[in-house]
Amino acid sequence: MKNKSLISINDYSKEDYLKILDLAEEFENNSVQKILEGKVVATLFFEPSTRTRLSFESAVNKLGGKVIGFTDAASSSVQKGETLKDTIMTVANYSDLIVMRHPIEGSARYASEVSKVPVVNAGDGANQHPTQTLLDLYSIKKTQGKLENLNIFIVGDLKYGRTVHSLLIAMSHFNPTFNFISPDFLKMPDEYKLFLDEKGIKYYEHSDFTKYIDQADIVYMTRVQKERFSDPIEYEKVKNVYILKNKMLENTKENMRILHPLPRVNEINEDVDANPKAYYFQQAENGVYTRQAIIASILGLK
Ligand code: CP
Repeated sequence: MKNKSLISINDYSKEDYLKILDLAEEFENNSVQKILEGKVVATLFFEPSTRTRLSFESAVNKLGGKVIGFTDAASSSVQKGETLKDTIMTVANYSDLIVMRHPIEGSARYASEVSKVPVVNAGDGANQHPTQTLLDLYSIKKTQGKLENLNIFIVGDLKYGRTVHSLLIAMSHFNPTFNFISPDFLKMPDEYKLFLDEKGIKYYEHSDFTKYIDQADIVYMTRVQKERFSDPIEYEKVKNVYILKNKMLENTKENMRILHPLPRVNEINEDVDANPKAYYFQQAENGVYTRQAIIASILGLK
């Protein structure tokens, strides 16, 4: 992992995931360790973010490093027409690691090819969000005590939701059963279903959310990604199709946990928040420890 960009969850092996999770646990037990002194991490966010950017920045601060960057490309020379290549080649002169979120699929890979320092993909369009996946794995392992043989329900926008695409690939190493619940328009793309077929992993597609929820170990809720729709009428049709309410959890397994990469809009009622099965805010906290582990691994810091 040392000096290696993290662009797709496929860039890391199962063993790499497990090493990151072990290291994240160490950071959770002792999160303030000044191993990043003298190092600079650039956070370049061409799209909005709360959790990813701030948890990366919190991670760097806790490790004693410094953060530079922008939260809005309009405040950078991109506004004057500077290309992504020139932006990355410049920022690579100022930093030891670049964390980038960009709306265009493949942009993070391209950035890693022109950068002299490692690049971490903080989300590229509807493609991938690998650091979210590592914190999701950490959250699943922490709550279930294992990653193997779990029944994982993924609900909502399976077409545009980049977190579910990365999660599906990563969990495929651990013999899951997937249940995909979405409106027809937002079904899991065929390429991911083919991937599961090739790996011999079981998956089921439903439109009825509540019918099988009692079998779930993890219910992974997602937001309908309004910003990816070209037709606002299509968004209006599907935006509130699945809303998780507290009363729907009555017959679910005791140890079932609800995850959501956040932000949520309407898809989880606030009456779920006080239920001990709701885990999404702890999941967001786990982002700090997991990102500390990712930074330390890529920069080769002990
Ligand atoms: N989960 C996630 O990517 O959240 P943000 O968009 O707030 O970074």
